[in-house]
Amino acid sequence: MLTSASALTLLSLIGSRAVEATAIGHHRPQSPCTSFMVQVPIIAHNHIFDVVPVNNNIDAVNWAVDLDTWNKPAFPKRILENITISRTYDIFATLCIPPHGSKASTLQIATHGGGFDSRYWDPSIDPDEHSWVKAALDAGYSTLTYDRIGCGQSSKPNAYTDMQHTTEVEVLRVLTEKVRDGTIQELAARSRRPLGPTITFDKIIHVGHSMGSIISYALISLYPNASDAVILTGFIVSSQVFNGRTTAGGREYAPENDPKLFANHSSGYIVIGNPIAFQTGFFSNLTNETTNIGGFKQEALDYAFSVRQPESVVEMGSGVTLVLSHPTAPQFTGPVQLVLGEFDFIVCRGDCKGTYNMTDVENMYPVAKDVSVHLQPGTGHGLPLHNNATLGFKASLDWLSSQGF
Ligand SMILES: *[C@@H]1O[C@H](CO)[C@@H](O)[C@H](O)[C@H]1NC(C)=O
Ligand SMILES: *[C@@H]1O[C@H](CO)[C@@H](O)[C@H](O)[C@H]1NC(C)=O
Ligand SMILES: *[C@@H]1O[C@H](CO)[C@@H](O)[C@H](O)[C@H]1NC(C)=O
Ligand SMILES: *[C@@H]1O[C@H](CO)[C@@H](O)[C@H](O)[C@H]1NC(C)=O
Ligand SMILES: *[C@@H]1O[C@H](CO)[C@@H](O)[C@H](O)[C@H]1NC(C)=O
Ligand SMILES: *[C@@H]1O[C@H](CO)[C@@H](O)[C@H](O)[C@H]1NC(C)=O
Ligand SMILES: *[C@@H]1O[C@H](CO)[C@@H](O)[C@H](O)[C@H]1NC(C)=O
Repeated sequence: MLTSASALTLLSLIGSRAVEATAIGHHRPQSPCTSFMVQVPIIAHNHIFDVVPVNNNIDAVNWAVDLDTWNKPAFPKRILENITISRTYDIFATLCIPPHGSKASTLQIATHGGGFDSRYWDPSIDPDEHSWVKAALDAGYSTLTYDRIGCGQSSKPNAYTDMQHTTEVEVLRVLTEKVRDGTIQELAARSRRPLGPTITFDKIIHVGHSMGSIISYALISLYPNASDAVILTGFIVSSQVFNGRTTAGGREYAPENDPKLFANHSSGYIVIGNPIAFQTGFFSNLTNETTNIGGFKQEALDYAFSVRQPESVVEMGSGVTLVLSHPTAPQFTGPVQLVLGEFDFIVCRGDCKGTYNMTDVENMYPVAKDVSVHLQPGTGHGLPLHNNATLGFKASLDWLSSQGF
């Protein structure tokens, strides 16, 4: 049911590194949030993939053209070798607990997608309009956001051997375990801005965007007990349209794109190089005429580009490989919500309406308690950065509540 082309669609996503270390949530006075580093040990079964190595912008173009060349192999046919890696990464995380939150013992763990770091969930421009974290806290939930490896303030490991979805699922699994065993709460209590009394989280919800949704999806496919509910945004099986062109991403060698921002990134790290390519992938200027909802403001695009983050040259392909080898989540019994922007260019080539087959979607989660899709009108792939994003946040938070969370 999931063709490699349609998987590529879903996975035409993007990847990591920090500007000024503006910790998430800290732009607000009395923020109920604190940030800290977590040491995350993982063992992952990865691959050596046959891709063009990238050490400058000429290589970056060669890399993209090679992936789009019609008679070159698609993933997973680019696997040259299986490898096992054993590493410990530093992961930059932010825990927020609403002081009077009615649902504070329910924690949402949010995994950002490519092109961003954890600031995706809590942008410093107009948090009332664009911050998922703020909306979740206002609804009473606690949140844990983190910079994926290769991104923001987290470790920047080897782009070829480490920066793969298989690694990133293990990072999320171990982080989740560290919530369950109280390590995260201890780190929060010992951080520079300790939060109130330590809390035991009795329910854990995983929220993802794009690559972060693939990682959260793979978590419930491989480890069905790791999560109580998932909200997967910017990710769906789309059997009719896809947008698998890597060349459209305008990606440059990260240290050449910005030697200061990406001083700690090396061979194999690429980044969406200019605001035009960033807009193409993440923003829709179209308004939904029925509801008069949608579009975006220049400031939102400027902000998103200013906090852009690299990805690795094998990251997207490793995501395709992982989803194709685990095309369903056969044992996950919690509820699943999928959220798509109506005019998502990456996932649905510009219009998601009528492109996905609900039977196929439900078959991916055969024993889930509920499978729902929310289509957010007038919105592109970068959902929270559009106008009227709060209506989409509300649709997810109301759905969670309807599912007993
Ligand atoms: C990698 O492992 C898979 C699954 O065990 C196996 O089918 C495949 O042949 C291996 N590939 C290589 C290149 O060793
Ligand atoms: C999940 O939990 C159930 C109930 O405790 C158990 O029977 C099952 O083996 C667990 N599954 C996995 C994959 O750990
Ligand atoms: C690069 O890493 C060093 C050491 O961890 C850190 O102090 C510095 O802020 C990083 N630079 C950037 C641009 O992230
Ligand atoms: C706008 O949104 C509505 C409600 O979500 C939807 O039915 C409609 O198809 C969307 N598109 C247009 C062009 O109105
Ligand atoms: C789309 O872009 C045009 C030109 O900049 C602008 O005037 C308009 O407000 C934008 N519309 C939306 C919905 O973002
Ligand atoms: C949706 O997928 C199911 C199962 O793959 C198939 O039987 C059905 O015909 C499809 N529906 C449409 C409208 O394509
Ligand atoms: C959508 O956002 C626009 C621009 O911020 C605003 O003028 C409009 O009232 C919003 N519509 C709804 C239904 O909230």
